[in-house]
Amino acid sequence: MKVAILGANGQLGSDLVKAFGKDAIPLTHRDLDVTEPGSVQILKELKPDVVINTAAYVRVDDAEVEVEKAFQVNAIGALNVAKACNELKAVNVYISTDYVFDGAKGTPYEEDDVPNPVNVYGLSKYAGEIFTRNHSQRYYIIRAASLYGKAGASGKGGNFVEFMIQQARKGERIKVVDDQFMSPTSTKDVAEMLKEFLGIKPEFGVYHMVNEGYCSWFEFTKEIFNILNWGVHITPIKSDELKRLARRPAFSALKNEKLGNLGLRMRDWEDALEDYLMEKGYSD
Ligand SMILES: NC(=O)c1ccc[n+]([C@@H]2O[C@H](COP(=O)([O-])OP(=O)(O)OC[C@H]3O[C@@H](n4cnc5c(N)ncnc54)[C@H](OP(=O)(O)O)[C@@H]3O)[C@@H](O)[C@H]2O)c1
Repeated sequence: MKVAILGANGQLGSDLVKAFGKDAIPLTHRDLDVTEPGSVQILKELKPDVVINTAAYVRVDDAEVEVEKAFQVNAIGALNVAKACNELKAVNVYISTDYVFDGAKGTPYEEDDVPNPVNVYGLSKYAGEIFTRNHSQRYYIIRAASLYGKAGASGKGGNFVEFMIQQARKGERIKVVDDQFMSPTSTKDVAEMLKEFLGIKPEFGVYHMVNEGYCSWFEFTKEIFNILNWGVHITPIKSDELKRLARRPAFSALKNEKLGNLGLRMRDWEDALEDYLMEKGYSD
């Protein structure tokens, strides 16, 4: 099985390349620009069986002003990839986000809950989902959330865990919101689960794929330093105090309902975080 991975040097992309090993066809932004239909044609020469599209505009606050850029990559890009996959009869895997939900539900979102994005990034990803659903015959929409991985999000210049560690090392005062809840998720775990998932050829459709459980960003940060056993003081703050451009859903935890029905289980977020910190050499 040949698996083309778009955005191959990104945070999730690089872990997918590792997980798929010899089956992977890594394609970076330089190799294939999803916003250019001509560039996407390279897939026709490579003839993959599966295309995993991790290419994205991921800067949530910047998307509020760079609306067109966000839609170009996250939505039009998804359309271009969907059309190419159809021509090739390849399976199209679009990576989406918990930010398609508005956060009002108050309990973890299942795959059939109705999206209602509250920011431009979420709306552009939801548009990408709709293009994927309506323009690919064989597709999976995989919703992940709050990702951290070894490579760090190239679009964000790192990941949340690393930002917290850098701040602690510099002795800076760490303030983190305690009124936004989510499912922190390791890109390594998504990559390995996606490989197993594709191997069993489930029914096409939307699936949630996050580490089990959820917490606030404040609780997540506390757990980072608990595992490291560093005595770091963290101050809980409210989202309003950050005055960020984009609104965030207050509660965007996801439930892996359909993965569970297939007998597949992701690790708890605390175990995945500990593994990440140990692999990075921060803890032993
Ligand atoms: N990060 C999160 O917390 C999070 C949460 C939920 C869902 N997701 C989704 O998960 C996926 C992976 O995110 P990530 O954290 O791995 O982000 P990332 O590290 O920024 O990876 C995105 C990749 O897309 C590439 N890219 C950007 N524009 C492109 C274009 N026009 N054509 C082709 N490639 C392009 C980037 O390459 P360059 O850097 O070279 O431009 C980068 O390799 C995305 O679909 C994202 O929406 C992320």
